[in-house]
Amino acid sequence: MYPIHRNRRLRSSESLRILLQETYLSHNDFIVPLFIIEGNNREEKIPSMPGYNRMSVDLLSKHVKNLWNLGLKAILLFVKISDNFKDNKGDEALNPDGLMQRAIKEIKNSVPEMIVMTDVALDPYSSYGHDGIVEEGKILNDETIDVLSKMALSHALCGADVVAPSDMMDGRILKIRKELESANLYDTVIMSYSAKYASSFYGPFRDALNSAPGFGDKKTYQMDFRNRKEAVIETKRDLEEGADIVMVKPGLAYLDIIRDLKEEINAPIAAYQVSGEYSMLKAASEKGWIDHDQIMIEQLLSFKRAGANLIASYFAEEIAKII
Ligand code: PBG
Repeated sequence: MYPIHRNRRLRSSESLRILLQETYLSHNDFIVPLFIIEGNNREEKIPSMPGYNRMSVDLLSKHVKNLWNLGLKAILLFVKISDNFKDNKGDEALNPDGLMQRAIKEIKNSVPEMIVMTDVALDPYSSYGHDGIVEEGKILNDETIDVLSKMALSHALCGADVVAPSDMMDGRILKIRKELESANLYDTVIMSYSAKYASSFYGPFRDALNSAPGFGDKKTYQMDFRNRKEAVIETKRDLEEGADIVMVKPGLAYLDIIRDLKEEINAPIAAYQVSGEYSMLKAASEKGWIDHDQIMIEQLLSFKRAGANLIASYFAEEIAKII
């Protein structure tokens, strides 16, 4: 009771505050998403993601070396496929010489220590822009996970360390795990987007990959943002099926979910600070309305405070330079 207890005592100097700091950001916390395009020596700006570019495979090595030298240890690859390679079944996703496959090999050759994570979902390859195979306006589950398991295998065979299914079909983790085991790929890690919500925060990402759904939305497979308990159920099931790392996505609006998982499960938890979160901060700071770096740090720290072990973030490179 006051004046015996004065809460402000422990905040009275910066040294004391640092001594008592509970949460830290480190280079080891981050996963860097990268957008890859066809062509040579090509780098394209993404209008809705200021400061973030897509790049061709030949430019990757230099970029990834640079990230490694900054102390970053993991990248997460996404590909932008031209429309004439898209179909309903995502056949191009299985092309052993496809864009993703070439990118993985290129990076594992030039920076072998960098942990290469790959997106496993059909949307960049789908003529409908959906994460699965479409039939009569519905997204088929079991047919889709057949393709996804082969896609994950194809990435692992090229050297991917971590496959990251972001599709939210049921049973895909078990299917992928079995496929990897049967190919003796015992050490391939599965990072499951286990609690992924149907979110409007993904807009700029869909611009980046030209992958917006051609009809409808993703609410029959991604989770309803009005719900909380479902996240724990989904995540526990993915762990039973063989996931090694689980994920909550989007990030900042879902810190309660990160905390729920922290309390309910023991696996490493990743959080994805998604494109819309990035773009909002960029836009407001471009207008001079907020302090970019301070808000970036505050938001990223809050993921750690909520319980995330890893953070996929478009700010990874920027934050790595200032911590
Ligand atoms: C698709 C996928 C999406 C993101 C990652 N993987 C978009 C979606 O589900 O429509 C979003 C990432 C971001 O917004 O930064 N499988």
